[in-house]
Amino acid sequence: MLADRVKRIEHSPTLRIAASAKRMKAEGLDVLDFSVGQPDFATPEPAKQAGKRAIDQNRTGYTANEGIPELREAICDKLWADNGLRYTPEDIIVSPGAKATLYFLAMALFQEGDEVVIPAPYWVSYPEQVKLAGATVVFVRAREENGFKLTAQELDAAVTPRTKAVILNYPSNPTGACYTRDELVPLAQVCIAHDLLVISDEIYEKLLYDRRTFTSIAALGPEMQARTVVVNGMSKTYSMTGWRLGYAAGPREIIDAMGKIQSHSTSNATSIAQWAGVEALRSAEEDVARMVTEFERRRDLVLTRLQALPGVTCARPEGAFYAFPNVAAYLGRRGPRAVIESTLDLATYLLEEARVAVVPGEAFGASANIRLSYAVSSEQIEEGLDRIAAALQRLD
Ligand SMILES: Cc1ncc(COP(=O)(O)O)c(C=O)c1O
Repeated sequence: MLADRVKRIEHSPTLRIAASAKRMKAEGLDVLDFSVGQPDFATPEPAKQAGKRAIDQNRTGYTANEGIPELREAICDKLWADNGLRYTPEDIIVSPGAKATLYFLAMALFQEGDEVVIPAPYWVSYPEQVKLAGATVVFVRAREENGFKLTAQELDAAVTPRTKAVILNYPSNPTGACYTRDELVPLAQVCIAHDLLVISDEIYEKLLYDRRTFTSIAALGPEMQARTVVVNGMSKTYSMTGWRLGYAAGPREIIDAMGKIQSHSTSNATSIAQWAGVEALRSAEEDVARMVTEFERRRDLVLTRLQALPGVTCARPEGAFYAFPNVAAYLGRRGPRAVIESTLDLATYLLEEARVAVVPGEAFGASANIRLSYAVSSEQIEEGLDRIAAALQRLD
């Protein structure tokens, strides 16, 4: 009955684990949920007020397909101020969430016969979107000892005459790794040498720690800007996941093509959310700074606690709000029901026995790690890590 295209893909594994945790909580069980992919902060007040004003002023009709001019202007201003990138509003499309942005981009660019390089560990939706578009995914493993960052040699070795694009995401979900300018330069050289497009998912750009600064690969020169589509959104930076607001900036031909697809699928992003988005970009930097300070404190806490677990190693997350510890030492150990053979088994064990929800690394193309989101309170981190430590100790 179903089309072949949908048989090629799987449900989002992160949403599924979060759903199990939610169900257990609804049943009254005391579950600590480290699987969530959204900040536990309120949307900044200026954005909320702008959303309410938009309702009161009846700005509730369809908008321009690509987004209201005010928001596309604000995005251009942001890209110039933060990233040193010059765009005009015609180079921008606003969509209902960066996930939709990335989907339209995959549909606009990829087809059968194309290869798309995705560094692993990767965010769960990239491979599925590429497969939906009919193209072939080429995974390249970014090594843990390199801080989960791809080297130019590794990228170069994955390129074939069919390679059309590479999808980069930094700071990364799930590892927290973030490329520096110096690390991006050789990657950019490979992209130019092989005439590759770059999809640069920069949605965690502002959630960056240890006083790091962010460089967009598009900002490495006109040759890079011309071959890069920058993807970003309001969900993570402004704690606006439910508002559904994402955007892309890139070569006009690609943005136009995405606009065609959007016009025949979702139409515009919600009008009210777009007005809130303008104010988020213009007036919420203090809220963001407060959130980053708090995330950095929690990053330190979760890292200290994870590194204290016997046999566990954990790369230092440089941004986003995830830790991605290596738990290989616990694979092959015996739980109450069976041997823990995979990180999925381990995540299931932790959920059932410790009432702690984490996401198995297999979901992100990594078989030795689990992902913990630290978008939870410090008290929950302490309690959750106590439970994990006790549960791991009980394994034979
Ligand atoms: C790396 C990455 N890109 C894109 C998204 C999509 O965000 P949204 O659709 O909420 O804008 C997410 C959300 O989890 C993400 O982690």
